[in-house]
Amino acid sequence: MTPDLLEQGARRIEQRMAAMAKASPDTESGGRNASTGRIAKPEGVVDLTHGRILYLEDVSVSFDGFKAINKLSLDIAPGELRCIIGPNGAGKTTMMDIITGKTRPDEGRVYFGSTIDLLRYKEAEIAQMGIGRKFQKPTVFEQLTVFENLELALKTNKGVKSSMFFRLDSAQSDRLSETLITIQLADSVGRLAGTLSHGQKQWLEIGMLLMQDPKLLLLDEPVAGMTDEETDRTAELFLTLKGKHSLLVVEHDMNFIRSISDIVTVLCDGSVLAQGTLDKVQADERVIEVYLGR
Ligand SMILES: Nc1ncnc2c1ncn2[C@@H]1O[C@H](COP(=O)(O)OP(=O)(O)O)[C@@H](O)[C@H]1O
Ligand SMILES: [Mg+2]
Repeated sequence: MTPDLLEQGARRIEQRMAAMAKASPDTESGGRNASTGRIAKPEGVVDLTHGRILYLEDVSVSFDGFKAINKLSLDIAPGELRCIIGPNGAGKTTMMDIITGKTRPDEGRVYFGSTIDLLRYKEAEIAQMGIGRKFQKPTVFEQLTVFENLELALKTNKGVKSSMFFRLDSAQSDRLSETLITIQLADSVGRLAGTLSHGQKQWLEIGMLLMQDPKLLLLDEPVAGMTDEETDRTAELFLTLKGKHSLLVVEHDMNFIRSISDIVTVLCDGSVLAQGTLDKVQADERVIEVYLGR
């Protein structure tokens, strides 16, 4: 390689790193930092013998005396697509902050499978274990192509040096091709992410999560700001992900919820108010009350 090409390559990597630093997502509920986790090697295998991939029991967290999460208990089965609804301020984003290690609860238990106590791990370790999170706003790297964004998703938290010598192996390359098809961006592989529509950016970010082959995906208001057509395509996408991954989806769009949901959990004042099919929870007097403010 000529020195010129090397220099160009190095500059490109620098730009990528700068883009990564700029786009690093922050908590949306402004949650308290959980930095006291034990340093540990995350286990590769999630124990599903009790039929649940995620388990929260009596979880509470207060911010300045205000109970944002109040004795919250919830469990999610492997491959399940669970929808979470609830009024603003119900604690939905804070719940995701707790699962992902961004916020540490004051009390309660949070387990990934039957054996992994998530409260003992740091945010980065939890992500590595296979819990992927999609924040509300798209955080793709606008000045990189669709392909480069997906490729970059495989090498987060690695240094500049390892990025320079990074090559996709054949399994990764296959996953990238599959992901492009899943997120319906195969025709846009060379486009800069900045030129995509809002919906396409959201799909690309979901694709970036899929590159890490997550066992559990947490999605916070994924169809906010999407057109009706984009919303329908997102519903299709989630239905194809169901079964292969477990999904926890927070959304306000009831048509969207109706098209994807099995069990819906209604969160209010930091705990579960109702749970069941959408028809069942929508007919629940207490749910009607919190939504209509009667
Ligand atoms: N870091 C924080 N400090 C103080 N209050 C917070 C913090 N994070 C969240 N809250 C409060 O906790 C409640 C739940 O917030 P959030 O989880 O964002 O609700 P949702 O996502 O359901 O709209 C809100 O009343 C919010 O103002
Ligand atoms: Mg929220």
